[in-house]
This record gives sequence, structure tokens and C-alpha cells, in this order.
Amino acid sequence: MSERLTIRRPDDWHLHFRDGDVMREVVPYTARQFARAIVMPNLTPPVTTAALAAAYRERILAAVPEGGVFTPLMTCYLTDSTDADDLARGAAEGVFTAAKLYPANATTNSAAGVSNVEKIYPVLARMEAEDIVLCIHGEVTDHHVDVFDREKEFIDRHLRRIVESFPKLRVVFEHITTSDAVDFVLEAGPQVGATITPQHLHINRNAMLVGGIQPHNYCLPVAKRESHRLALRKAATSGSPKFFLGTDSAPHLKKDKESACGCAGIFGAPHALESYLTVFDEEGALDRFEGFASLHGPAFYKLPVNEDTVTLERAEVAVPPVLAVTGEAIVPFHAGTTLGWRFVG
Ligand code: DOR
Ligand code: ZN
Repeated sequence: MSERLTIRRPDDWHLHFRDGDVMREVVPYTARQFARAIVMPNLTPPVTTAALAAAYRERILAAVPEGGVFTPLMTCYLTDSTDADDLARGAAEGVFTAAKLYPANATTNSAAGVSNVEKIYPVLARMEAEDIVLCIHGEVTDHHVDVFDREKEFIDRHLRRIVESFPKLRVVFEHITTSDAVDFVLEAGPQVGATITPQHLHINRNAMLVGGIQPHNYCLPVAKRESHRLALRKAATSGSPKFFLGTDSAPHLKKDKESACGCAGIFGAPHALESYLTVFDEEGALDRFEGFASLHGPAFYKLPVNEDTVTLERAEVAVPPVLAVTGEAIVPFHAGTTLGWRFVG
């Protein structure tokens, strides 16, 4: 049984840094483990232009600890009135790595998202022509659709059509949560990939709803039933280059999660690699971890792999019950439990 694992330094292909004081305190957690991260644009106001993204990137870089090397990869928040010229220019200048499609009101700070996916087909056509990656939050938002069915419904109603209409557009189906999504991604061409979060590999919906409501296990898309979790574990550890690491780390203050209307999001950044590696270990797939964490994402995004390495060792790590951020408490994923792998550096 291997006791240490050294792999090329991984990247996080989906996370939320927020802004201001919270951002300054959460960026170091990610910069400690990862070389790059795709930064989600759902700020208030959202990051809708290249100028806003360039300024946000500078604020993130200023939060990277001394001596750290970390590259934020910025995304453009798509709206009904996205300026395709600005997006294309931003991508050509290296400001934007991707654009993010949030169906309006699907999740945190998505009110300015796209009200009707078809409205932005001209922008998607431009993205296809310019080879800009489209990241998708794949859930419909109709009130009559059960929250557990919203991802599947999005595939049937929108995603299939997007992929058929723009066959060269590179699409990342973000934070997939269902076997339906796994099947869709596997059946699609190589231009379609998916990120998988640690929480969707570790927990099913019971973790959110059994024994009292567990707000710290609530995120969007919500965790589904066990059969879906098992399908995600199989996909992540399969070695398929279509699946790669994206934590969807989404810090919210403890008090905002433990409220009558608790926020969606799990703060997975602090022990992200230990969390994922535990899954690969349980699945007997340690040899496939580097692909998922460090190789498949860069290949999909057409970026070079990282040259330096990180090492993890088999050792117990106690995850604190809370972390102090801006003098407030944030509950990390796995809070108060012990993980079996330690990040050495
Ligand atoms: O749980 C989530 N939290 N899902 C998202 O899509 C957004 C994120 C956030 O920004 O808090
Ligand atoms: Zn997210």
C-alpha cells in the first residue's frame, strides 16, 4: 500500500473566491494546494466584462501569500446582454479563460444570469468560432421542476441542443451530480467534459436531510441519491479524460448557512486534495488520481500541465470544526472529522 503520493501540481477547475476581506482570507487555502483555478464570476455585481475581470484578477493576485505562485483563470458571467466583442477581446488578451452560463436564479448571485438559453445562441456561436470554453451550471429553474430533477431536465431541454447546435464549442458541465450527467458526458464528443466536486463524491442527500437538517452539506446542485454518488465515483476514478477536479469551493459564513434561509455552498478548499484522494484510495484508484487532478483539466482547456509537484502522505488529519475568516466562522467541508491523507506540500 503506498504511503506517499507525488503528482504534478493540480489545478481547481471551478471555485468561488468571493471578493474583499473574505477573498483575501480564502485565496491562500487554494494557492497552497493548486497552481491555477477557474474563478467563478458570481460576485455582486457580477463579473460581466473584461475590464471587471482584469481588476478582479489583480485583487486575487494581491491576496496570494508572499512567495506563492498561483494563477487565477477568469470567467465571464453571461447575461442576456453579453457583449460578444468584449468577451472575444478579453479572451484574445488572456483575461478570460472561459465564460459561465448561469440560468437566471439557479443559484447564489445568479439573478443577472441568462433568462432563456436560446437568447444567447449568438454569443455561443461566437464562442465556438473563437474557441472559448463554456462552463455551464446545468439546472433548470422552473418552480414546478423538483430540485432533484433539475439537472436531468437541463440536459434534456438545453444541453443536448447546445452541444448539437455548436459541435465545436468546448463545454464543461460543471459540478455534475447525477448518473444522467455522467452518461451524457460519456456519450458526447471530446469537446464535452465535466467537473466533479469532493462533496458529490462523499455525500448523498441523506447527509443533508437525515438526523436533522444539515445546512453545511447543502450546495447546488444538491447532492442526489446514493446511486448517483456511486456513478460519480466511478466516473471520477475511471481514468476518462472527460472528468476533472473542480471543488466548487463556495465559502459562506456559518451564520448565513445556519439561517432560516441558508445559503448554498460548501467550503471545500482547505482540505480539497485530501478529500479527493480519500475517494480515490477507497476506490483503489490511486494511480488515476494524477489524471483527474492534474492532467485532464489542462488537456481540456488546452493549457500546459504544471511542472512542479505536490506530495500527500497517509496520515491522520483533523479538520477543524470551524475556520476563522474575517473574524467570523466558516465551516469547512469535513469539519470536525479526520481524513486519512495529509497534504505535505
Ligand atoms: O452551492 C453552490 N454555491 N452552488 C453554486 O452554484 C454557487 C455557489 C455559491 O456561489 O455559493
Ligand atoms: Zn460554483
